[in-house]
Amino acid sequence: MEKILKKPFDDVEVKISTDGQDKNIIFAIESSCDESACAIVENGRKVIANVVATQIPIHQKYGGVIPEVAAREHLETINVVIEECFQKANLKPQEITAFASTVGPGLVGCLLVGMNAAKTLSLVYNKPFIGINHLKAHVCANYIDSDLEPPFVCLLVSGGHTQIIKVDSYEKQEILGETLDDAIGETYDKVARLFGIPYPGGPNLDKLAQKGNSDAFFIPKAKVGEFDFSFSGIKTHMLKLMHTLKEQRADDIPVEDVAASFQKAVCEYLIQKTKHAADILGYKTLAVAGGVAANSQIRKLMSDLQNEGYKTYAPVMRYCTDNAAMVASAAYFLKDVYTDLDTEVFSRAI
Ligand code: KG4
Ligand code: ZN
Repeated sequence: MEKILKKPFDDVEVKISTDGQDKNIIFAIESSCDESACAIVENGRKVIANVVATQIPIHQKYGGVIPEVAAREHLETINVVIEECFQKANLKPQEITAFASTVGPGLVGCLLVGMNAAKTLSLVYNKPFIGINHLKAHVCANYIDSDLEPPFVCLLVSGGHTQIIKVDSYEKQEILGETLDDAIGETYDKVARLFGIPYPGGPNLDKLAQKGNSDAFFIPKAKVGEFDFSFSGIKTHMLKLMHTLKEQRADDIPVEDVAASFQKAVCEYLIQKTKHAADILGYKTLAVAGGVAANSQIRKLMSDLQNEGYKTYAPVMRYCTDNAAMVASAAYFLKDVYTDLDTEVFSRAI
């Protein structure tokens, strides 16, 4: 696959081809939510530098991300992160093939900071700009430091999205099914709040669950379309369960067992449906991506599938949650990108 890109100030074409013959060094920025991140990646798989500045401590006191605060914070941090990334890579901007950034979906004010920084670098150094869809970038995190090649089925599990994606070539990602209501990351964060766990609840709820008995409580799974999900009923069930337990046992609630039962139910639900999609397509390779791909149970269930003859992939932890290396990888591999300097940011998945 190859894509022909234009430099802003002359008609010289820049060809990015995924045959691995040329050396393409892509600089990328990710700023769609609460991480200001930059990375430099060679040919979509080899990370030369990766820098992430997280805003989690800032948003913790509000119990969630405040968009205006996040955007202002990106503005304060972005130049420092860009400089640090070049320093770590020991590269000059002139040595970069193209400048990329996430353009959506995400928080508009936050996206604008990263996209305008990438466009500015593109104009100053007369190199192509590549705008990237954040969700597609999460899937591409699986190419980093790995030998993964399409076709495969990817389970995308993040704070705002839950999708089963068919990847039949580097160029194309097709959504087979998705959540009809809450995303799994959002469900984790809301259920964590019931336990009194602070934002971001997902990773802490995962830690709590690892200490409990996952068969202690029955958690019902919603019956929806064969590749779709629903989590709002599970969330309500957890609320009711916690109320009942509080009435019955006051301060003596077996929180570890409740967490473990919740974790087992939702992770089995996610992995079983993904495996079913692979079986229907006749694919033997599965991958998982997004922040919730850092979850211990999801990773275990995915790697257990290797005993059943599947090849499975999961990005290392730092490339599961939001990062810019995945954006650089997507800029290299995907054909479906935004190369116009007039590209606008978008808040919802399109
Ligand atoms: O992909 P991501 O970093 O940001 C979005 O694009 O949304 O995902 C963030 C989500 C949060 O909801 C966070 O609680 C969840 O991923 N998360 C986890 C774990 N690590 C992060 N959820 C469950 N278990 C984890 N270990
Ligand atoms: Zn994300």
